[in-house]
Amino acid sequence: MLERLGLMPAQASTIASTTDALYWFLIGLSFVFSMGIAGALVYFSVRYRRRSDADQATQIHGSLALELVWTIIPFGLTMIVFVWSANLFVTIKRPPDDALEVLVIGKQWMWKLQHLEGRREINELHVPIGQAVKLTLTSEDVIHSFFVPAFRIKQDAVPGRYTTAWFEATKTGTYHLFCAEYCGTEHARMIGRVVVMEPADFQAWLAGEETPVQAMAVGGDGDTVVEAGAELFARLGCGTCHRDVRGALGPTLAGVFGSDVRLQDGGTVVADEAYLRESILDPRARIVQGYQAVMPTFQGLVSEEGMLQLVTYIKSLSEGRGS
Ligand code: CUA
Repeated sequence: MLERLGLMPAQASTIASTTDALYWFLIGLSFVFSMGIAGALVYFSVRYRRRSDADQATQIHGSLALELVWTIIPFGLTMIVFVWSANLFVTIKRPPDDALEVLVIGKQWMWKLQHLEGRREINELHVPIGQAVKLTLTSEDVIHSFFVPAFRIKQDAVPGRYTTAWFEATKTGTYHLFCAEYCGTEHARMIGRVVVMEPADFQAWLAGEETPVQAMAVGGDGDTVVEAGAELFARLGCGTCHRDVRGALGPTLAGVFGSDVRLQDGGTVVADEAYLRESILDPRARIVQGYQAVMPTFQGLVSEEGMLQLVTYIKSLSEGRGS
């Protein structure tokens, strides 16, 4: 009903109803306590008002029953809120393994998106119904925030960092996409839409033609993200050093993603997206054991698209290795 009155956005993802239920529970809890406190205030003011100058208050020095009540009830209520929200938080933070992947780049003032299968979009995201979709987000300039009210997801896109979000749409239709972080003059116009389609329609869309607007800066060429990454990897000459042979100047990248990498300083690091990104932009930050600091930085040479393509390509070199 609230949805029809325009007071709440449509519930179009698997987490929407739980999120809303928690929201209403918190509103209800606040309402009950506000009313209870205000009511008690008024009642006590009248009931225990000072009736004459000789009126003396009766002092109470502790009441075990009262103290137990005001400790146990709020404790129980906060534990309900804690378990409920922590549960939801874990769900929201853990994309399912079979999720479709979409790369999202925010820039002043548009959203650039690319499906792993290749298709690119601007300010629009097409997704199939009933399928988890994982977003990997970053920004080219300032902090933006990817907000789809109907899915109850909101995730910052931060320059120099990869963040993730996921959702599974439960209703076909078109939903608002907003930037929810003030990011400059045109922030209010950094909007778009998410189109949820039947799986067959989505497949047809995915195979369709890109519109000319997709002329995007310096990424690799190739149909899929992995192919574009491979092309860029070759074009930048990465394979000259990163080879699986003895005496190569750089470590081979096959199987690197998701593994523990031993570093020159004796530490180890898990090779995740952030480490791969750092190693491309600031190769000297964490040198792999047994190698020299000879790699140049690629800062300024690779666009954010290109960076995501490279990282996705390097990740693909570890597929089927149980990473
Ligand atoms: Cu981007 Cu606000």
